[in-house]
Amino acid sequence: MSYLVLDRVCKSYGTAGKRTEVLTNVSLSVERGEFVAIVGPSGSGKTTLVAMIAGLMKPDSGTIVIDGKKVKGTGLDRGVVFQNYSLLPWFSVFSNVLLAVEQACPDWPAPRRKQHVERYLRMVNLWPARDKRPAELSGGMRQRVAVARALAMEPNMLLMDEPFGALDALTRGTLQDELIRIWDDNRRTVLMITNDVDEAILLADRIVPLSFGPQATLGPEIIVDMDRPRPRQSLHRNADVKRLRNSVTEYLVHSRRKPASRSLGSSTTPLGIGAAP
Ligand SMILES: Nc1ncnc2c1ncn2[C@@H]1O[C@H](COP(=O)(O)OP(=O)(O)OP(=O)(O)O)[C@@H](O)[C@H]1O
Ligand SMILES: [Mg+2]
Repeated sequence: MSYLVLDRVCKSYGTAGKRTEVLTNVSLSVERGEFVAIVGPSGSGKTTLVAMIAGLMKPDSGTIVIDGKKVKGTGLDRGVVFQNYSLLPWFSVFSNVLLAVEQACPDWPAPRRKQHVERYLRMVNLWPARDKRPAELSGGMRQRVAVARALAMEPNMLLMDEPFGALDALTRGTLQDELIRIWDDNRRTVLMITNDVDEAILLADRIVPLSFGPQATLGPEIIVDMDRPRPRQSLHRNADVKRLRNSVTEYLVHSRRKPASRSLGSSTTPLGIGAAP
């Protein structure tokens, strides 16, 4: 059985009579050790999907099963990197990561936990900032703490909601390489949300596009049948990359042309949809 199985998941927001179905019939299977990227436009429901898989929110209908068990809440089996960092503001960078490690590895002696935190903070180049609080960091630095925190928990599955979106190109590249190295070493299951098609091609085994909303749903999977490691420098010249990029963007552009007024109620609130990919 697949490690993660979503079966016809639907989710609406709003009150009775003004409900908008954001996600409809989202079905997906992710194998253990697989790296899957979901690529979707802004406002399509990516964070909503992550929140449901993380166990922070329930689907209206449909099921989410991880490792054979229905998701009923949050769990240490999932390391989540949220889009908005979600760090504890009154704790230092070091403590933010340490608290997660304490939760994930309660049996470890204190020195081992601290070494572990140091390793991951060095990995994201934040060791010099270890005593700062989140408010003293740039957005990109906060995101790196959130990435370090999730990685340091060494969860079975990494669930990442646009983890590198706020980073400069250099840091993004470094963290993408680190993520692939860690994934390759440990073969954890990774589900990554991104709106960057090239990032998905660089990292994932499989890309699943999420259509424009409302009533967004997953499109046909696109297998990234390219050898690893994938050198980013030559990606833009690679014919396979062009073909994959076209497959994803064609689906997304096509999904945008669907009739726009598919809300369940009378809501006319425009969705926060970004530029067409
Ligand atoms: N708590 C909420 N109550 C009502 N509507 C919501 C709520 N959360 C999200 N929405 C709406 O649901 C839709 C999907 O939101 P979501 O944040 O999941 O999109 P997203 O794909 O993550 O967008 P982005 O790429 O900008 O992060 C949007 O139209 C948003 O306005
Ligand atoms: Mg989002």
